[in-house]
Amino acid sequence: TANSLKEAYKQYFLLGTALNRGQIQETSAKATTLIAREFNALTAENDMKSAYMQPVKNSFNFTESDKIMAFAQKHNMYVVGHTLIWHSQLPNWLSAITDAVEMNKAIENHVTTIVKKYKGKIGSWDVVNEAVEDNGSLRKSVFFNVLGEDYIAKSFQLAAEADPSAELYYNDYSMTNPTKRAGVIRMVKKIQEQNIKIDGIGMQGHWHIDSPSIADIESSIIAYANLGVKVAITELDVSVLPSPWGQQGADINQNFENNPTMNPYPNVLPDAMQIKLAQRYYNIFKLFLKHKDKISRVTFWGVNDAQSWLNNFPIQGRTDYPLLFDRDFEPKKAYQAVIDVAKEK
Ligand code: G3I
Repeated sequence: TANSLKEAYKQYFLLGTALNRGQIQETSAKATTLIAREFNALTAENDMKSAYMQPVKNSFNFTESDKIMAFAQKHNMYVVGHTLIWHSQLPNWLSAITDAVEMNKAIENHVTTIVKKYKGKIGSWDVVNEAVEDNGSLRKSVFFNVLGEDYIAKSFQLAAEADPSAELYYNDYSMTNPTKRAGVIRMVKKIQEQNIKIDGIGMQGHWHIDSPSIADIESSIIAYANLGVKVAITELDVSVLPSPWGQQGADINQNFENNPTMNPYPNVLPDAMQIKLAQRYYNIFKLFLKHKDKISRVTFWGVNDAQSWLNNFPIQGRTDYPLLFDRDFEPKKAYQAVIDVAKEK
């Protein structure tokens, strides 16, 4: 019988987590001990993003990413490189580029240098992240504004040349939204039509306690797999808090910070909600197991609830409970549900 997540899922798909700098530095080593025990895939939560990798033009900093690689090697874990070309967490020099020749050179240097540096050691790269808007159009990022859509295929081509053994993914959120999905499919087909390598699509699983529906998640897994690529669930967490975007007439710029209805569980998650979260995770993993032939990996976006980015997004200072381990690193009911559903298989 399985006594870890990675053990429970080893015949089906990789089971991963995000790892951040603070967790590596913890003197208690609670996060790293738990990661080594439970997971067999690792994604840097922040440290491989462009602002950290190339803070100054032509001056790369691999200090933190090397630590992550060393941790992964020590524990025999698959590493996901996250992420090469993304509109967020950009260094200032890159955001400021307006010239096409300069932008092409910058992309070429960034992608080639980093992918070659970890050649043979990174299992897959999130080559391009979040390039599509919810309405299906391409995001007006600095890359798009300077180069148009060609930067996308070009980035994949550069990554393929720099490390032919790494698998290359497109990664994005709201991937169950049908309009966005159509845009992503259109974009991926364009890459494929140019005979440029793309191996997979990452569906960020930043989901909620009651949305998206299992049926909508399933339709998307099938639609992406129909492109002939692998599907990874890349950033899984399930928020139990109300989203201000869902509120009637809500304006995200409004100050919600001291509004108790937006932070309903400041101290402890009531038992009924623990159970609801466990059921939600059970249903989600049951679906993943049904489509195990299409799914390469499922990665949680964090280890324990205290360290989740969701405590501060989209409202600062809330208390969310999105992961499988509580604030003391103890497994929650949701953890057991994820193990149980694999055992039933
Ligand atoms: O490094 C600075 C530090 O110097 C400073 O003192 C501190 C003060 O706020 O900020 C630190 O930077 C923070 C960074 O995380 C590292 O901790 C940023 O403020 C903070 O915004 C940033 O948040 C990250 C976020 O991406 C940025 O967009 C989250 O940790 C990370 O979980 C999140 O991950 C993204 C994925 O990469 C892509 N998909 C969506 C997902 C969630 O937003």
